[in-house]
Amino acid sequence: MRIQIQNLHKKYQRGDTELEVLRGISCEFRAGSFNFILGPSGSGKSTLLYLLGVLDQPTSGKILIDGSAIDSWDEAKRNAYRKNDVGFIFQNFNLMSNLSALDNVLVPFLPQGVDQKLTQTAMQLLERVGLKDRVDHKPNHLSGGEQQRVAIARALLKKPQLILADEPTGELDSVSGRMIFDLLRELGQEQNATIIIVTHDERHIHPKDIVHRIQDGLFIDSIEEKGSSQ
Ligand SMILES: Nc1ncnc2c1ncn2[C@@H]1O[C@H](COP(=O)(O)OP(=O)(O)O)[C@@H](O)[C@H]1O
Ligand SMILES: [Mg+2]
Repeated sequence: MRIQIQNLHKKYQRGDTELEVLRGISCEFRAGSFNFILGPSGSGKSTLLYLLGVLDQPTSGKILIDGSAIDSWDEAKRNAYRKNDVGFIFQNFNLMSNLSALDNVLVPFLPQGVDQKLTQTAMQLLERVGLKDRVDHKPNHLSGGEQQRVAIARALLKKPQLILADEPTGELDSVSGRMIFDLLRELGQEQNATIIIVTHDERHIHPKDIVHRIQDGLFIDSIEEKGSSQ
C-alpha cells in the first residue's frame, strides 16, 4: 500500500486554546517500505498514526491511499479500510486478559465467526512468532515480549497491507525489543506490507530503513539513514 500525505495539519481544541500538533506534514510511504517515525514525547507521533489509520480526521491536508483521497471515502469504505487493510500494534499490547494467546489472535474475527482454516493460520502465525508452546496461555502467564508477539500475530492474521505500530517495544527490554523489530521486518516483507513504526528505540534501526523525524509538528528530515551507530 502506498501512502501519500500532503500538507497535513491537526489541531486540538483544549478549552479555549488551540493546540496545533501537526503543522503541515508531507511525505510518501512507499508500498512495502519499512518506516520509522522518531520524535520527542508530545510531538504528534500518535496523532499521525491515528490519522493514517483513519481513527481521526485531519484539520486540513490530504492522505491518499494508493492514490485515493481518504476524505472522499464514505463511512463504509473507512470501516472496511480499518477492518481489512490496517493492522494496529500498541505499546501496551491491548490483549484480552481472559482469553488464551490463540483466542487473542482470533479476536478480530470472532464477530463474523472463526473456521478451522483461520484457526490453523492463527496457529501458524503463533508458531512463526515463536509461541508454539504458548497458544493456550493467558496474557498474565506470558512475558511482555511474548504478549507483544501475540499482538503482532493478531495484527497480521488479516494480512494487512499497512501495519501501524505505536511504540511497540516501549514496555520491553532490549532483547525482546530487537526480536519484535526483526519479526515485523520479516513478516512485513513476506506479506509485502507497508510498515510504519513510532519508536524511541533507535538502536534497532537498520541502514536501509527509512527514518522520519518529527519535531514541533513538522518532519525535520526524511532521510534514509546511513546507519544508526554513525
Ligand atoms: N484528543 C486530544 N485532545 C487534545 N489534545 C490532544 C489529544 N490527543 C493528543 N493531544 C495532544 O497533542 C500533542 C501530541 O500528542 P501525541 O500525538 O500523542 O504525541 P506523541 O505520540 O508524539 O507523544 C500532545 O500535546 C497531546 O497532549
Ligand atoms: Mg504517542
